[in-house]
Amino acid sequence: MSMQRSASPTGVNLGLLPQLAGAPAADTFLIGTAHQDFAIRPFDAPLGAEVVGLDLSQPLSPQALARIHAAHLEYHVLVFRDQRITPAQQIAFSRHFGELQIHVLHQFALPGHPEVLVVSNIVENGKPIGLGDAGHFWHSDLSYKERPSLGSLLHARELPEEGGDTLFANQHLAWETLPHALRRAVEGRVAEHTYLARYEELRQRSPWRPALSAEQIAQVKPVTHPVVRTHPETGRKALFVSEHFTTRIVGLPEDESRALLDELFAHSVKPAFVYRHRWQPHDLVFWDNRSLQHLAAGCPPHLRRLMYRTTIEGDQPY
Ligand code: SIN
Repeated sequence: MSMQRSASPTGVNLGLLPQLAGAPAADTFLIGTAHQDFAIRPFDAPLGAEVVGLDLSQPLSPQALARIHAAHLEYHVLVFRDQRITPAQQIAFSRHFGELQIHVLHQFALPGHPEVLVVSNIVENGKPIGLGDAGHFWHSDLSYKERPSLGSLLHARELPEEGGDTLFANQHLAWETLPHALRRAVEGRVAEHTYLARYEELRQRSPWRPALSAEQIAQVKPVTHPVVRTHPETGRKALFVSEHFTTRIVGLPEDESRALLDELFAHSVKPAFVYRHRWQPHDLVFWDNRSLQHLAAGCPPHLRRLMYRTTIEGDQPY
C-alpha cells in the first residue's frame, strides 16, 4: 500500500497518513498538488456515487484521496466522468489504493503497461486485442487468488452505440437479507474458488480464448475463502461466492453443496441489490471487490468496446 492506514473520527479507515485523520471535507491547496473542488453524489440505487468535478489527470492532494477512499468504502462504486487520462495516469491513480495485480492472461496486457488488462471485443489482424468476454458471469475480481482484489478501475476508451453496460450487486445487502436458514447453513463455512471453473465453457463460446500454459495453470491453483467475509476496512459482512469462480462448499456432499450454491447465486444478484452502470465516454469506474460482484452485460459483437482495467491487490479474506 502506498498509504498508511488510520481511523477517521467516524471510525471509517481513511487509509491515509495519521495527520490526515479528521481533515476537513473540503480539498485544500498543498504544494505539488492541484486544488480541486469536487462533490460526491450518491446514486438513487443500492450502491454507487458519482464524483463530480475531479480531474484525475492532475495530481491529487492527500485530502482529496482521503475523501475518495472514504466514499469508496461507503458507496462501493465511484464513477468519475469524462476522464481524459493516459494508461500511466490510470496506473498512478490506482496505486494510491494498493499494489496492482497482473492478470494471468498476460496475452491481454496493454503493451508497455502489464498492470493494464485490455478488456475488448476488438479483433485486429485476425487477433483479439483484449479479453472480449471478461465479466460474462457474475464474479468478484480475482476471488480465485489467495489475496483477491481490493478493487478494480475500468476506464472507457471506446464504447458501443448499444449495450456494454456493467452491473454491480451489493453483497453486504445480499448477506443482510439472506433467509435465516441459509445463513445458518453457510456461516463458518469455506468455499473453493478456481479460475479454471468455467474456463473451458468460455473457450467453447469464445474460441479465441487462449489455452492456458502449464505456467499459467500453476498461477491459479484452487483456493478456499469464507462464504461470508468481513470487509477488512469497514467490518461489514458480505457474501463472497460467485457463479463464475466458486465450485463447491467444503465439507458438504456434492449435491448439497451445489443446491446451496445455486440458492446463494440466485439470491446474491437480486435486482434489489443491483446498480446498472450505463457507460459514457471516458468514464472511470472504481469498485470494491470486497463488497460487490459484477457482470458485463455484453454488446452486439460487431460493435467495438475497449476498456482498460487496473486491479488492486487486497487482503486474504476472513
Ligand atoms: C470485468 O469483469 O472486469 C469487465 C467488466 C466489463 O467489461 O464491463
